[in-house]
Amino acid sequence: MSKEKDVRILAYESSCDETSTAVIKNGREIESLIVATQIKSHQRFGGVVPEVASRHHIEVISQITKEALAEAKVTWNDLDAIAVTSGPGLVGALLIGVSAAKAASMATGLPLIGVDHIMGHIMAAQLKDEIAYPALALQVSGGHTEIVLLKDPVHFEIIGDTRDDAAGEAYDKIGRVLGVNYPAGKTIDAWAHQGKDTFHFPRAMMEEDNYDFSFSGLKSAFINTCHHADQIHEKLDKYDLAASFQAAVVDVLADKTIRAIKEYQPKTFIMGGGVAANQGLRERMSAEIAKLPDAVKPKVILPELKLCGDNAAMIGAAAYNLYRDGQFSDLTLNADPSMELPYADSMLN
Ligand code: KG4
Ligand code: ZN
Repeated sequence: MSKEKDVRILAYESSCDETSTAVIKNGREIESLIVATQIKSHQRFGGVVPEVASRHHIEVISQITKEALAEAKVTWNDLDAIAVTSGPGLVGALLIGVSAAKAASMATGLPLIGVDHIMGHIMAAQLKDEIAYPALALQVSGGHTEIVLLKDPVHFEIIGDTRDDAAGEAYDKIGRVLGVNYPAGKTIDAWAHQGKDTFHFPRAMMEEDNYDFSFSGLKSAFINTCHHADQIHEKLDKYDLAASFQAAVVDVLADKTIRAIKEYQPKTFIMGGGVAANQGLRERMSAEIAKLPDAVKPKVILPELKLCGDNAAMIGAAAYNLYRDGQFSDLTLNADPSMELPYADSMLN
């Protein structure tokens, strides 16, 4: 039996505040991964400043391209395609990656593959284990909170979305009130493990018969509680505040996701995005899925912690699936800040 030729992809990610390059073999194996983070430059502003982000991306992108090739011990001749996040994200930031990838594709003659950032987050799971389809993903990041059905590796359908703030955004906003540096999720998660849910914040849209989320009411309730305590000079326990906030977020995410798993009965459950690194959420989802009857119990793939945040390895993984499906871009590829996942119309009768 003849072995299929290896497919090696150089991938770029620059949609927000991380500039990253990676070389990925056959969509599963990380031969190199470089992540240049700009977080320190944005911290003093309490969030990502688009102009600052673009400038940092430009400064490092050529250097980290060379580093990714060197770390993987390959040259341009060993590659089969160039992939890049083309959206969604900050337009100026996306453009740096897209321009670099187009230049590389033009200079080498290698095919170009534009990748959806959300598809990338979900495909971080593919770098850990094989995904059996249909699959269902809880995609939770700074910009998105979605339940996504995957018919196959390239056809996705969003069945639940946030109506206002994304989960990560809510973490970052309440973190600010507690004096935690941006991005606040990791610290709040650690604090939550040292406190108790004593404030019982609202769980929005729990009872509703849909898979949508809303986190702005929770955020407001949290901020009002802190402001009120300030006014009467009462000191609240930051660990209990963090635990109460996290319990509300995790309750809603877990409840809706488990309902969706029962309805759609996927073969695999995936988590993706920065908030997928949340220990409370990982533990809760694993525990809830373990309780399901065997007939509807999906295989669970939680990506490695370092692959939950933005990185080019996940873009290379998703690009491999597009490569196999023959989905290439041409040099008219542009940054699309509000890009949407490819629609699979046969999934929902
Ligand atoms: O996926 P990501 O790196 O960027 C976007 O595409 O948005 O996600 C970043 C978000 C930030 O809001 C950050 O606070 C959150 O992920 N985050 C966490 C944790 N680690 C990062 N949120 C909750 N718990 C964590 N452990
Ligand atoms: Zn992201």
